Amino acid sequence: MSNGATVGIHDLSFATTEFVLPHTALAEYNGTPVGKYHTGIGQRSMSVPAADEDIVTLGASAAAPIVARHGTDGIRTLVFATESSIDQAKAAGVYVHSLLGLPSATRVVELKQACYGATAALQFALGLIHRDPTQKVLVVASDVSKYELDSPGEATQGAAAVAMLVTADPALVRIEDPSGLFTADVMDFWRPNYRDAALVDGQESIGAYLQAVQGTWKDYAEQGGRPLEDFGAFCYHQPFTKMAYKAHRHLLNSAGHDTDEAAVERALGRTTGYNAVIGNSYTASVYLGLAALLDDAEDLDGQAVGFLSYGSGSVAEFFAGTVVPGYREHLRTEAHREAVERRQPIGHDRYRELHEWGFPTDGGDHPTPAGTTGPFRLAGIAGHKRIYEKR
Ligand code: CAA
Repeated sequence: MSNGATVGIHDLSFATTEFVLPHTALAEYNGTPVGKYHTGIGQRSMSVPAADEDIVTLGASAAAPIVARHGTDGIRTLVFATESSIDQAKAAGVYVHSLLGLPSATRVVELKQACYGATAALQFALGLIHRDPTQKVLVVASDVSKYELDSPGEATQGAAAVAMLVTADPALVRIEDPSGLFTADVMDFWRPNYRDAALVDGQESIGAYLQAVQGTWKDYAEQGGRPLEDFGAFCYHQPFTKMAYKAHRHLLNSAGHDTDEAAVERALGRTTGYNAVIGNSYTASVYLGLAALLDDAEDLDGQAVGFLSYGSGSVAEFFAGTVVPGYREHLRTEAHREAVERRQPIGHDRYRELHEWGFPTDGGDHPTPAGTTGPFRLAGIAGHKRIYEKR
């Protein structure tokens, strides 16, 4: 590290939605062989928000256990990363700040660059803590991934939020310098302000992701990063879990390494457990990969983990972290499994209804149908203002 301090992820907690749609239901509806979903893209089910859930309720639900465990002392910044923003001006994090009862002496901001935003937020946090190691930064990555009904992207939807407390002398993962960086102006996935479902060129997006993997690794190596052999596991952005496998094989090939399938499985297999059943959670996805890896039974004390964060459009970053010895005492494995298992399966009709549901834009008083049993809900909209409730 540049100034000798160790900084990184001190705590990590995630939340997902009230409902879940199994891919078997989607396959049955649209006549796709389910093997395309289960094996071809590596997805079993996708989280579906209730009408009264959004990026704020998910983000607050993810972050509340962190505040309950550590209190608010030292948290002077909350960075909210999202692709599925709910307001063009106000940061969603301000609602989260209020729902969590954080001190008024807090800096709150929203960051956007498709699925890459959470990594920008993490790097922003690390910089602040290097400047003042007594401070803590709450990073919240929260997204609802939405594509058009009956489009190829539909099977790769999902929703979740990850909250991370970033501090000096962290208990889970120390984040290292350098980073490998890559930006290219491509139109692989985008969402104009007037749309709530993303537009995507699926095959172009896969190619753009692979190009970014190669670009970040090249820069990482040039910046003096670790050799590939150092890493015990790799957390990739997972729009669908098979994408991590495509990306890792591409990385190995472009770095002149063998793509031995057993080694690829060892590097990635433990990172896909949550993403395979939650679906794409955009900014949260790479950190859900980390949650799955840490919650896995195997001891990772002292191991180096590679992170590849990709945001369409596109910006990507490769960086390394070291798992802190003793990290297992600080995990939330049971709560994470509960967040996944508590979801209520819904049928295809209900999923379509929820997909098409939206507030009228007339400025009237519109309460939201009750759906979530989680700790926070979007109670409605009145005079164009969103109203949140805490249970
Ligand atoms: N049994 C097993 N496998 C099957 C199968 C079957 N019956 N039928 C098809 N498959 C396999 C295919 O061979 C293919 O595998 P390979 O890629 O390894 O060849 C896989 O299933 C998918 O099949 P298709 O490519 O034909 O699928 P598709 O064209 O319907 O769409 C998709 C796939 C492009 C991912 C689409 O879901 C999509 O557009 N998703 C959104 C975009 C996306 O996720 N892009 C990822 C990179 S961009 C990014 O990462 C940022 C982000 O979050 C959006």
